Parts: sequence; C-alpha cells; structure tokens
Amino acid sequence: MIRILVLLCLAAPPALSQGNRWWAWPADPDPRSVERGRGEFARACGDCHAANASGTAKGPNLIRTARVRHDKDGSAIAAVVRSGLTGMPPIALTDSQMKDVVSYIEWAVQKYDRVSPGPPPDDYPLERLLTGNAADGKAFFNGKGGCGGCHSVTGDLAGIAKKYPPVFLQSRFLMPRATKPRMATVTLASGEKVEGELKTLNTYDVTVLPAGGKPQTFPADQVKVEVRDPLAAHRELLLKYSDADVHNMFAYLWSLQ
Ligand code: HEC
Ligand code: HEC
Repeated sequence: MIRILVLLCLAAPPALSQGNRWWAWPADPDPRSVERGRGEFARACGDCHAANASGTAKGPNLIRTARVRHDKDGSAIAAVVRSGLTGMPPIALTDSQMKDVVSYIEWAVQKYDRVSPGPPPDDYPLERLLTGNAADGKAFFNGKGGCGGCHSVTGDLAGIAKKYPPVFLQSRFLMPRATKPRMATVTLASGEKVEGELKTLNTYDVTVLPAGGKPQTFPADQVKVEVRDPLAAHRELLLKYSDADVHNMFAYLWSLQ
C-alpha cells in the first residue's frame, strides 16, 4: 500500500500524499533497532557471516544475496533463521531480536549500496552467475522489466560487461549506485515547504539539505515528506524479479561485452 503511494507520488507530486504521518518507502531502518541488531547479529550470526555481514569461509555474504534483497519485510530472512539451511543451524531469536537483526541487515545493504565503493569482490565466480538465458533476459529488458524506458544497450549500457567484474555487474543492475542524490520536499504543519537533498529519513526524523543552505531536521510525525529517488524504479524491480529473471538479465547484460 505504501509503495503504491510512492509511485503515485512520483508520477504526480504534492496533492496525492495527504495525511500527516507519511513517509516514503523505503524508509531507512530505525537507527535504534539497527544498533541493537548490530550487537545481536555479531553475537548470533557474526561467527559465520562476519559482523558486517560480508561473509566468511563458514557462511556467505548476506549483502549481495537475492534472498535478502527480495525480502521486503524481513520474513524470508526470519524463515531462514528459524529453520536453518545446510551449514546453518536453526537459531532461536525472540521476535524483537529478529526484527533488530533484520533492521541491521537492511541497514548494511543500504550502506553498501549507497557508499562503499570497495575493491571488486572476486568471491563469486562467473560460472555460478551465468546460469540464465540471454534471449529471455533481452525479452525481459524490453518487455516486463521496462529497462528500455531508461537505458539503451547501444547507449549508456553499451559494453557494460566490460565495466564491472561479474559479481559487481550483478549487484549493479540489481541496485545501482545513483549518480544523483535523493531529493525531498518537506511540508511543515504551517504549509511551508523545504526542498533539498534527502540526508536521512527514518521513523523519528527527516533531514534535508537545501541547495546552498544548512541541513534542516524535522520530526517525521509532524511533517509530510515526498521523496524523489532516482533509483525508485530499481527498488521496485527488486520486488518484481523472480530468480530466473535475475539470472536471465545477468546473462543478457554479460553478453554486452
Ligand atoms: C554456523 C554458521 C552460521 C550461523 C551462526 C549463521 N549462518 Fe546464516 N548461513 C550459513 C550458511 C553456511 C549459509 C548458506 C546455506 C546455503 O546456501 O544452503 C547461510 C545462509 C544464510 C541466509 C541465506 C542466504 C542466501 O543466499 O539465500 C541468510 C538470510 C542467513 N544465513 C542469515 C543468518 C542470520 C540472520 C544469522 C544469525 C541470526 C545466521 N545466518 C547465522 C551459516 C551460518
Ligand atoms: C525509471 C528509470 C530506470 C529503469 C526503468 C531502470 N533503470 Fe537501471 N538505472 C537507472 C538509474 C537512475 C541508474 C543509476 C545510474 C545513473 O544515475 O545514471 C541506473 C543504473 C543501472 C545500471 C548500472 C549502470 C552503470 O554503469 O553502473 C544497470 C546495469 C542498470 N541500471 C540496468 C537496468 C536494468 C537491467 C533494468 C530493467 C530490469 C533497469 N536498469 C531499469 C534508472 C532506471
């Protein structure tokens, strides 16, 4: 439901986002929950997945897995934790511990997507990624995926496979780095509007940086926030892709050498 509001809002700004407790999906995870989750994750998961979720020899990197990225409400992560997998025992967490651990993983994914350039990871060989069908990927690109509305394989994506090592290519099309920031319009109770780059948005507050000004922070429950995120389409796509779509898309992009 909230997602639908965001889409409407992107299509036709102000008037549609009524109601005063409103913020756009995806909100940043609650920072207090992230902090609790950081400790809980290190204790219960860190031994195998590393305290920053980047993986060890005993467990995979969680930041780049499709299962984690497709998990819009934490239920897929919770299911794995409760049931276990080969090499991962079931782990008993209370509901609130689980929520905090999920917040921490979400935060780690967002942090990775937004800021960490890092060295190209080489822990995921091409043959494990290249299991899809390029022709089906091309059909998805031009059809259901709607990629052609924003990209062209002879324009901005020409030779994309040469630009990144395989695992980076996969994470970049799933969640690219934005070259432009997220912008937001904050409408105060008085009706005054403050417009600027969105710095933070969570359950408690929203901070925007107006052009040429100083950052301004407002309590999230007293203002209305409209976000324009250049990567909104990519976030939507994360919820739409099946695993086959991801593999096919990778195969197609990999063919653009
Ligand atoms: C004893 C080592 C170990 C511990 C502790 C552990 N994991 Fe895992 N985890 C693994 C292994 C190994 C896999 C890969 C299993 C597979 O692919 O079949 C895995 C897979 C996962 C996956 C699925 C990744 C994917 O690619 O789909 C998630 C999510 C996950 N773990 C979350 C957690 C969380 C959250 C915790 C802590 C509450 C945790 N794990 C604790 C070893 C561990
Ligand atoms: C509504 C517009 C939109 C749609 C639809 C869209 N993208 Fe993107 N895409 C972007 C933006 C914005 C970026 C970030 C790069 C930038 O800011 O120029 C991006 C970045 C990328 C990148 C990284 C490019 C690079 O050089 O790092 C790839 C790969 C990509 N998109 C693939 C896809 C694929 C595949 C689809 C369809 C499944 C798709 N995109 C759909 C807007 C879109």
